[in-house]
Amino acid sequence: MIKQPRFKKAILTALTMLVSMSSLMLPAQAADDNLVAVRGSFFDFTDDPWKHIGHEEESARFFADGMLVIDNGIIKAFGPYSEIVSKYPKAKVTTIQDRLILPGFIDGHVHFPQTRVLGAYGQQLLPWLQQWIFPEETKYKDPTYAKEGVKHYFDNMLAGGTTTVLDYGTAFPTAVEAFFDEAGNRNMRVICGIGGIDRNVPKTFMTPPDMFYTESKRLIEKYHGKGRNLYAITPRFAYGDSPELLQKCSQLHKEFPDCWVNTHISENPTETRSAPLEHGVRDYLGCYEKYGLVGPKFVAGHGVWLSDSEYARLSKAGATVSVCPVSNLFLGSGLFRLGRATDPNSRVRLVFGTDMGGGNRFSMLSVLDQMYKVGMCNNTMLDGSLDPSRQDDSAAERNKLNAYRAFYSLTLGGAQGLYLDDKIGNFEPGKEADFVVLDWKGGPPATAWHQSLICDRPTTMDQAASLLFGVYSVGDDRAVDETWIYGKRQYKKGK
Ligand code: GUN
Ligand code: ZN
Repeated sequence: MIKQPRFKKAILTALTMLVSMSSLMLPAQAADDNLVAVRGSFFDFTDDPWKHIGHEEESARFFADGMLVIDNGIIKAFGPYSEIVSKYPKAKVTTIQDRLILPGFIDGHVHFPQTRVLGAYGQQLLPWLQQWIFPEETKYKDPTYAKEGVKHYFDNMLAGGTTTVLDYGTAFPTAVEAFFDEAGNRNMRVICGIGGIDRNVPKTFMTPPDMFYTESKRLIEKYHGKGRNLYAITPRFAYGDSPELLQKCSQLHKEFPDCWVNTHISENPTETRSAPLEHGVRDYLGCYEKYGLVGPKFVAGHGVWLSDSEYARLSKAGATVSVCPVSNLFLGSGLFRLGRATDPNSRVRLVFGTDMGGGNRFSMLSVLDQMYKVGMCNNTMLDGSLDPSRQDDSAAERNKLNAYRAFYSLTLGGAQGLYLDDKIGNFEPGKEADFVVLDWKGGPPATAWHQSLICDRPTTMDQAASLLFGVYSVGDDRAVDETWIYGKRQYKKGK
């Protein structure tokens, strides 16, 4: 090797460093040209409001004049406009006025193949499934029917401000493939799987356990972790699943521990009594525990009739209940015990869901509307006026769905319930930029009147929360003005 004088070596090293630094800086500057930003009033959550009872505002963030900077779908910066704007002079800014911008809503329990059959009259769960649901879902064997259905489904979801779903597929892989393909086209963060069912169901709709295993595995390998798609191993419900089918779920769960497990639990009194008898266990949760399915990323829908023991076990396992009050009222299933689920001694992770078509609405704002009323009924039952021996003032209070608890549940709370809070749920940098733009006066004429009594435009967190309560208690899904997915606007009201 040729010897170099010391000073020459030092100059060479310095030059090399300069060159490599500038080559690092160049792409960063070029990347800055691609930044987009949104300026407006932002509201999100950093904590669980049920941990801050009486001071719920401590769990939230509100910037009356805020800025969100987005780099290729990912949040790069978030905060007051005055602090952020000078750091990103090249970002292309969209200004959104007179609106509240929240993280996209998460629907943690929904059935896309029921899109054409919501609002089916007059039956409780089990006859409703037989009369309306299984015949409709059977049509999803046809890929053309399935494709058209999922398009309509996602259009409705976006119009409601929903950006992420945990969905039930039918028994037929074609339908689930149509779902993942369409979600991929729209670049949405979704979880879904083939719904396995082989008992108490017409022959034409059965999923034989071997076929369920093979097809679930094939779809996991094809879709799980591809783009924003994620897979849930989906035993439809213990009442409709044989021990052999649950055994296949257990096998898949061991082979693909990263996947979710999505199912129903204790929805309707009749199935809640029958399922444990069919599986020889003490209660509904026991059916899934028997096969090692209950743990983080286990999500069980409804839970209206869960016992205190089941709540304690769900909490300990880190499992999640999806809460579906619209459906529970429509099918007459019962009143979800929100105060019990949020008991700090055995808090259970929750995600709210429409359960469309058991739920007769696509809108998560309807879910809040109905949950508020269910919570108030529970509040009455627990305040001692009905039965002094059941009086529980703390549980009574936890049932009240104020705006903080409500919108936390649709955003960060739902993301925590789905173990997706590293990706979505609030405006923390590094997360995916899915959000909804709410027009607080957008509902029926009564909304504008009601909201103008609060303020013209919110300047404090308290005012923003009051407007948000009005959005679901007086307004409706017409409040959803825009829905953005991965930094791009995918829905605009009236367009
Ligand atoms: N349990 C099993 N399948 C279903 C369904 O499709 N909807 C509801 N609400 N409950 C179920
Ligand atoms: Zn359901």
